[in-house]
Amino acid sequence: MALDLSDEEFRGLAARVVDLASVHLESLADRPIMPAVTGAEAERAFDRAIPEDGLGAAAIDQLEQIAALARAGSAGFLGYVLGSGEPIGALGDLYASILNQNVTAWRSSPSAVTIERALVSGLAEAIGCAGFTGLLTSGGSSANLMALAMARESRLPANEQGSQPGIVYASSETHMSVPKALALLGLGRSALRRIPVDDAFRISVDDLEAAIAEDRAAGRTPIAIVANAGTIVTGAIDPLARLAAVAAANDVWLHVDGAYGTPAALVRPELFDGLDRADSVSLDGHKWLYQPVEVSMLLYRDATVARQTFSFTDDYARSLSDDPLEGFSFFDESLDLSRRFRALKLWLSLRYHGLAAFRAAIAADLEHAQLLAALIEAEPDLELLAPVELSAVCFRWVGGDDEANAALLQRVNARGRVYLSNATVRGRFSLRACFVNHRSTEADVRAVVSEVLTA
Ligand SMILES: Cc1ncc(COP(=O)(O)O)c(C=O)c1O
Repeated sequence: MALDLSDEEFRGLAARVVDLASVHLESLADRPIMPAVTGAEAERAFDRAIPEDGLGAAAIDQLEQIAALARAGSAGFLGYVLGSGEPIGALGDLYASILNQNVTAWRSSPSAVTIERALVSGLAEAIGCAGFTGLLTSGGSSANLMALAMARESRLPANEQGSQPGIVYASSETHMSVPKALALLGLGRSALRRIPVDDAFRISVDDLEAAIAEDRAAGRTPIAIVANAGTIVTGAIDPLARLAAVAAANDVWLHVDGAYGTPAALVRPELFDGLDRADSVSLDGHKWLYQPVEVSMLLYRDATVARQTFSFTDDYARSLSDDPLEGFSFFDESLDLSRRFRALKLWLSLRYHGLAAFRAAIAADLEHAQLLAALIEAEPDLELLAPVELSAVCFRWVGGDDEANAALLQRVNARGRVYLSNATVRGRFSLRACFVNHRSTEADVRAVVSEVLTA
């Protein structure tokens, strides 16, 4: 029983953790986004031997030090595509860990499986993909990997005999998780045709069709198109309806990597015309649905392909129920067997705030990006590097070269008021602000410009 806690101990420690969490949230605005700490200092702070004898409550006190050396998710954090960690979602995560459901199959976790399935189909409908089913994954990378495994199995079955050569098409702006998936699937990164983009960073459909025709003529087998619904760098959305037509004409799978962008369909559905014609769609809850990492969603139109791809069940795990609900197993449609209850945070957050609050936050992010673009265009020392379709804004300081802009970015982030990341846009170093932060206000948008000019 040495690991066991008394009810009283748990209650006291949990209250302390929640108190520390509350203090952290209350002090977010005053914290520098990036802690002033070196790698060596961080190592010294945490380079402690695992104690033979427990520290008891003193172990909890160290959480404060962890927060002190963490990057803060404040209103001025605009780096990468990282959601802002909505606190109701965080409470859901805590409770999910306490319940410790293993979301393998209905019989292991009736409420968790039911909630995950309801959440996935509800969100699918909300973004315009009614009738799709799917599941939650740890991130967009694993959702893209699973989607491409399904594409491969549907066009060039590989589960028994191993992978055969097949070609996948995506724009030059496609996320690195796609070539990584092709490597893992045995298709190889050279199986990826990187199709050029237009001035707005959308895939050139003419070049795509030409590449497919060329591969066919050479005896190669096209298997999938990966469309972007929000490219990682500039937020461009490929012409999904046209890509759906090309995919249908060529009998290839259409996966839409909407890890970043698809939540914007809650506000601007017209930008995503054709999304419902995809075979699979990924959407990250820990990006633009503001959830704590890790929660991503993979949707598919036809669950039988998911089962063909992922079902391989030992006797010990076989369901003994024929009931369509009670006999359901996620492991028949997924890479993972043990799965955490990651639906709870997003489900709780959506139920607490309501979809309207999410629409409003996403609309505010879209407006913030447009405002920043306008401020940059009005500022002679700054130059906008790409059109702003969603919430990513790429720009540079015109007074210096790429190296000077890289140094500038480091100075901006070291100042701690706003945090930007970097990207390469048409070969040029770019500063990049991405609004997927429910805490950001107009003042934070204006601070981007003033901080960059000051730095
Ligand atoms: C377009 C796109 N796809 C996929 C991913 C990978 O998602 P994750 O980081 O959740 O694995 C990202 C991450 O930024 C992304 O922006």
